[in-house]
Amino acid sequence: MVKVVVHSDVRKSQINKNIYGQFSEHLGRCVYEGIWVGHDSPIPNTDGIRNDVIGALKELQVPVLRWPGGCFADEYHWQDGIGPYENRPRMLNTHWGGVEENNHIGTHEFMRLCELIGAEPYICGNVGSGTVYEMQQWVEYMNNGGQSPMASLRAQNGREEPWNVKYFGVGNESWGCGGNMRPEYYADLYRRYATYVRNYTSESVYKIACGPNTADYHWTEVLMREAGKFMNGLSLHYYTTGTGIWEKKGSATGFTAEDWFTTLKATLYMEELIVKHSAIMDKYDPEKKVGLIIDEWGTWFEVEPGTNPGFLYQQNTLRDALVAGINLNLFHEHSDRVQMSNIAQIVNVLQAMILTEGANMVLTPTYHVFNMFKVHQDAHLLQTHYVSPSYSNGTDEIPQLSISSSVDANGHIHVSACNLSHQDSLTVDLDLVGLSGAEISGQVLTASELDAHNSFGNPEQVAPKALEGITVEQNAVRFSLPAASVAVIKIVS
Ligand code: AHR
Repeated sequence: MVKVVVHSDVRKSQINKNIYGQFSEHLGRCVYEGIWVGHDSPIPNTDGIRNDVIGALKELQVPVLRWPGGCFADEYHWQDGIGPYENRPRMLNTHWGGVEENNHIGTHEFMRLCELIGAEPYICGNVGSGTVYEMQQWVEYMNNGGQSPMASLRAQNGREEPWNVKYFGVGNESWGCGGNMRPEYYADLYRRYATYVRNYTSESVYKIACGPNTADYHWTEVLMREAGKFMNGLSLHYYTTGTGIWEKKGSATGFTAEDWFTTLKATLYMEELIVKHSAIMDKYDPEKKVGLIIDEWGTWFEVEPGTNPGFLYQQNTLRDALVAGINLNLFHEHSDRVQMSNIAQIVNVLQAMILTEGANMVLTPTYHVFNMFKVHQDAHLLQTHYVSPSYSNGTDEIPQLSISSSVDANGHIHVSACNLSHQDSLTVDLDLVGLSGAEISGQVLTASELDAHNSFGNPEQVAPKALEGITVEQNAVRFSLPAASVAVIKIVS
């Protein structure tokens, strides 16, 4: 049993809805097939974008969507993706699988996707192989509502009104696939490129600098010192593998209880990363003006057998649901600094929300967690105290419980909880300080197998159900979390 005290009267930071952001790259079957099927496809679509995926993503309330990469972004030349389809160059996607890229999903198509699902676009510009001029022109093309060559070109391509893109990333992984740069060099380059990301309305573009890979604290130090005052956000990339080792990522299904433990331990490492990078940011930005933007995170396992290794297609199990729930709870708890996150990636790649096969679509356990947790978007974090029992694999220990609570604009409280143990249930006693006479309900996501997943033949294997057996006595709420589960409790007073 664990006692959790929720101070319903002590509001902390606001949980920026952008923490529930997504990422879509020209990689494998993410944007092509997963999203874009083309106007002439027999798969029902709106302007070439598949209707089943639009419906599922609207339901998820995706606040922000990052595009076109990833590593692809630093090889992408946006002018290849505008104008008549027959004139768009066909080329190789040299980074991901060496397959043909026909540029059919370009700026207009991506913006249409964002409009259809109600998400803000977050565009990642090309610093690695693109020029300052090219980046400047792209921003002008997307955002200038007045007279200018790029505004005219946009209108010629069928769009009079600018899109007023709010979020713009200046390069991706510039320490790696985005140019293998040193932080000192990138910091200067960032200052130069970011200067020409112009504002065309009174609302300034939120500029995101390429931040560190995992625990590269030196990168954060140099970027904050040299370029901190020119940025609104600094990114962080960290992926969870099944072994904790990058070179040997482990299988997405068919894993052992020990692999389960290792994966969840590796997930919890995100907290150390946030705390340590934030401490460096605090030194240069004590007012927390610069957001930590975790624009790539999630599980990275070995690809499904028989699939293109460059497509990063993996199954998504109950273990992924736990990884999502734990990370989202951590982002809430650090929402004074974490302003956005973008899980990798939205469809058919890495820890996806949705998997597709031809005309079929399946929602993953990760989708269900995002759907259950969306009640936290823009809510205020509540002060929550607890001492978690530990969960051991015999030699090592991690906390058994991950929990976070918030109050929304209607005064409803939501508590999201994950039971990390693969075998033990956990009784939670919630002490709701400052509340009485509440109506309580809950949803839980779990399954009898640790690697349970939704397949095209059995799409409802892992789906949320009502959490039964919640008892309420004055301001004390008791419920039991099954082993290996993610739950959200709703409290209406
Ligand atoms: O999400 C897959 C890849 O992971 C991205 O393209 C890159 O930025 C990262 O290394």
